[in-house]
Formats: sequence, structure tokens, C-alpha cells
Amino acid sequence: MAEQYVHPLGVKRVGSSYTIATRMLRHEDMNGSDRLFGGRLMEWIDDAAGIAARRHAGCSITTVAVDTLEFKHPAFLNDIITIEAWVTHVERTSMEVRVDTYVENCATGERNMINHAYLTEVCIDENGKPMPVPYGLVARTTEEHAECEASRKRADLRRMRRREGI
Ligand SMILES: CC(C)(COP(=O)(O)OP(=O)(O)OC[C@H]1O[C@@H](n2cnc3c(N)ncnc32)[C@H](O)[C@@H]1OP(=O)(O)O)[C@@H](O)C(=O)NCCC(=O)NCCS
Repeated sequence: MAEQYVHPLGVKRVGSSYTIATRMLRHEDMNGSDRLFGGRLMEWIDDAAGIAARRHAGCSITTVAVDTLEFKHPAFLNDIITIEAWVTHVERTSMEVRVDTYVENCATGERNMINHAYLTEVCIDENGKPMPVPYGLVARTTEEHAECEASRKRADLRRMRRREGI
């Protein structure tokens, strides 16, 4: 387990980074099988994660890693896509951001989860070098505490994977 780092400007709540984006699927978002093009969704996920991370840190950030990207449900023309993102864990220079994506069929009102992804965003200085995340993260609700606990485990797993090159 990494040593606890003390952030210089104190802490922010999980809700400070909460970001929501809604889009209606257009022809240019489709792939050759008339479904949502996965690469387009990846761009939107990265965008939402970047906004959430900037909201938390208030400085420049960059994406260093994306895990658990799955496409569990298809999306079609005119469906509504909702993307929700928030910071779940803060380490020294990096933050974990969770991004949940849903598809909604307006005609039926049916809503399904497409994906939940975890992205690692790193704070960078004017030279593009990692710098400390200015704010720590405070969890208030039982759900936030559980997510934070799971995030620590994921961070340990990422470190182990990098150490062992897997
Ligand atoms: C992000 C970047 C500045 C990090 O630089 P670096 O020399 O690897 O820095 P470090 O090894 O000190 O890592 C910085 C932080 O990122 C984390 N990190 C690095 N690689 C990681 C990975 N593959 N997965 C998860 N976290 C990672 C480290 O754990 C560290 O976090 P911590 O300080 O909170 O413990 C550098 O890798 C970079 O510029 N990458 C390109 C990013 C980019 O351009 N993204 C846009 C899409 S291409």
C-alpha cells in the first residue's frame, strides 16, 4: 500500500468533480454496422474524465491510463448517451476517475449501462512534468467510502502490473 500523501491545499468533496454530458447519436457517430462507433465513445469518455479531473485539481492534467473499457450494450442512431464522471481516488500526482456511460432509447424510455471505465489522470506543470495534485479527496457517503477503498486496491494492482510489466 502506498504511503499516505498530504495534499498542500487540503481536500475537496467527491461531488466537486461530478461531470455529466448528454449527447444524441448522429450519423457521424455510427460505425459501418450502424451502431455507435466505439472510438467515438472512447473520446467522449476521455473528455469527461479530463473535465472531472480538472474540476478536482484545478490545473492541467493528462490521461496516462484507461482500464476496464467494455461495451456491454449497443447504441443506435438518435439514442441518447449520458456520460457521468467523478474523481474516486487521489494519490500524489495522479487521480482515478470513474466514468459511467448509459444509453437511452427515447421512444421506449429504456436505459442501459454501456460501460464503466476507470481512467488515471496526472497533474502536469508547465513543462509537462507530473506535479502533486493540489487537493486530496474526502469521501462522505457509505458509497463514496466503498468506492475509495476499491480505488486503493485498483491503484495497488496497477502499480503491481507496471512493476511486473503485465
Ligand atoms: C503522464 C506523464 C506526464 C507521467 O510521466 P512519468 O514520467 O511516467 O511520471 P511518473 O512515473 O512519476 O508517474 C506519474 C504518476 O502517474 C502514475 N502512472 C504512470 N504510469 C501509469 C500507468 N500506466 N497507469 C496508472 N498510473 C500511472 C504514477 O503512479 C504516478 O502517480 P502518483 O504520483 O500519484 O503515484 C507521461 O507519462 C506522459 O506525458 N504521458 C503521455 C500522456 C498523454 O499525452 N496523454 C494523452 C493521450 S496520448
